Amino acid sequence: MYRTHTCGELRLENNNQTVTLSGWVQRSRDLGGMTFVDLRDRYGITQLAFNLEENETLCLQARKLGREFVIQVEGTVIERSSKNKNIPTGEIEILVTKLTILNASVTPPFTIEDETDGGEELRAQFRYLDLRRGPVQEKLRLRNRVALETRKYLDKNDFLDVETPYLIKSTPEGARDFVVPSRMNAGEFYALPQSPQTFKQLLMVSGFDRYYQIVKCFRDEDLRADRQPEFTQIDCEMAFVEQEDILNMFEGLVKHVFQEVKGVTFAGDFPRMTYADAMEKYGSDKPDIRFDLEFVYLTDLVQNKGFVVFDNAETVIAINAKDCSEYTRKQLDALTDWVKRPQIGATGLIYLKYNADGSLKSSVDKFYSQEELALWAERANMQAGDLLLVLCGGLEKTRKQMNELRLHMGNELGLRNPNVFKPLWVMDFPLLEWDEENERYHAMHHPFTSPKPEDFALIDTDPGKVRANAYDLAMNGVELGGGSIRIHDRALQERMFELLGFTPEEAQKQFGFLLKAFEYGAPPHGGLAFGLDRLVATMGGSDSIRDYIAFPKNNKGRDVMIDAPSTLDDKQLQELAIRVSTL
Ligand code: AMO
Repeated sequence: MYRTHTCGELRLENNNQTVTLSGWVQRSRDLGGMTFVDLRDRYGITQLAFNLEENETLCLQARKLGREFVIQVEGTVIERSSKNKNIPTGEIEILVTKLTILNASVTPPFTIEDETDGGEELRAQFRYLDLRRGPVQEKLRLRNRVALETRKYLDKNDFLDVETPYLIKSTPEGARDFVVPSRMNAGEFYALPQSPQTFKQLLMVSGFDRYYQIVKCFRDEDLRADRQPEFTQIDCEMAFVEQEDILNMFEGLVKHVFQEVKGVTFAGDFPRMTYADAMEKYGSDKPDIRFDLEFVYLTDLVQNKGFVVFDNAETVIAINAKDCSEYTRKQLDALTDWVKRPQIGATGLIYLKYNADGSLKSSVDKFYSQEELALWAERANMQAGDLLLVLCGGLEKTRKQMNELRLHMGNELGLRNPNVFKPLWVMDFPLLEWDEENERYHAMHHPFTSPKPEDFALIDTDPGKVRANAYDLAMNGVELGGGSIRIHDRALQERMFELLGFTPEEAQKQFGFLLKAFEYGAPPHGGLAFGLDRLVATMGGSDSIRDYIAFPKNNKGRDVMIDAPSTLDDKQLQELAIRVSTL
């Protein structure tokens, strides 16, 4: 038997017991007559004590143990003379009587402790060692609990877990597909699913009226802190439901998971906001509503006063940073530089200070009288001590930039407490999105999303104005999930493909299977998918999903531990009938 207990288990109650433990040597200390070793496993750390006088050979053996050696010890639980209040096993130690080295270890490239000296790249390369660290393990434990509670809730509500294939035909969901060559069908390719969207709809046609799957999805898109090329969805679909049924069911899921895993109770219904309002007030379809800093539109107040920058702008938007009028020149310059970075792309930043003494000071006060500035202040509900930050330009661009600045100020002012959770349903997304570059419409959600019946008439006259039965759940500025009521009628689905620029032949070639299925009694249905990685990271209070994935990719899509992607040898390429051109 390798162990009678884990390294996190023993307490004073176990005093005098003879035990066997196995684990990794975290560190050892020689204090003359005594050698102490911290033995670690997944469950905790237990101190081992070796007494030079009582057992010299054993003690000398212990002194040779290196970091990360895997050992087994037998010994007696004794009360410690100097107790460690910081760890649960801190009142006891094991007086070792037998030591077996199960496996030696070379010196690890970084210290495997809660606080490590290893940089990100190095830890990624040795991810299996990084995963030995307590805080990293804690994140995967959180993920496990979220997945488990998700399953419990969905199971209780009659959802059936059904697996869908990974080798499929490409589904257009906005990103590029990862493709897999087929050896048996030379020259042909599978695509890895961006989501199981069409399959879950087909399961509704099959009569499984409540489906779910915790499933890997694959998207070849530019990566960010909240995006990985392979990520996990809690993918759900229901038949015979209206939008309201879906929102209630999945609001219930989020409440259940937060309650069970974090002990966080959400009182009442989640707030809701239309997409149009979210864009107007926050310039984002996933606003962080933990704090205000709502947009204030100044366009009508500031134009035609001789300041050409404002005069030439489609819109002028401000946010009122409370209690920031004492920002120094240097701080304001830093903010200006921040909005001018290429990632944000603003041409400049204008401010108005409402000083504590009641005076108004602006970077453009040679164009505006005190009375005019007072009107800005009034519109923005400014009080003495406040600072107004103003951006201008095209409507969409300025909203986007102001959203970034708003979040940045939220961070600077400590308004984004990671232990506060503010969910928000964003509703009524537009059905279509105009793609300037290719001069065509894209489905904003995906091509299977149904238009709102009251907007049907606009499909032929003004398609860009048609709203969809689509909804997202945002939390703390993160899009946690999204879904829609689907089209279940062949003719409407065909019309949708047509709007998206497919010829009937193309639609048939790509989606013939779905159109056909709709002829055989497709029930009304709809669903939603949460990003599990994002849900867990948000619950853990982090922006980065990578930490919550056991073996993530870096921001170039590489796994630096196994060194993937990699080239194939000629034989493999030949078998797959692939010739690689080095462009
Ligand atoms: P959508 O594309 O909105 O919808 O994806 C659903 C959720 O998945 C998460 N997500 C990601 N997480 C990490 N990395 C990524 N690259 C990534 N892309 C998406 C987000 C997102 O809200 N089939 C539809 C769902 C439906 O209509 O039922 C779909 O995939 O949290």
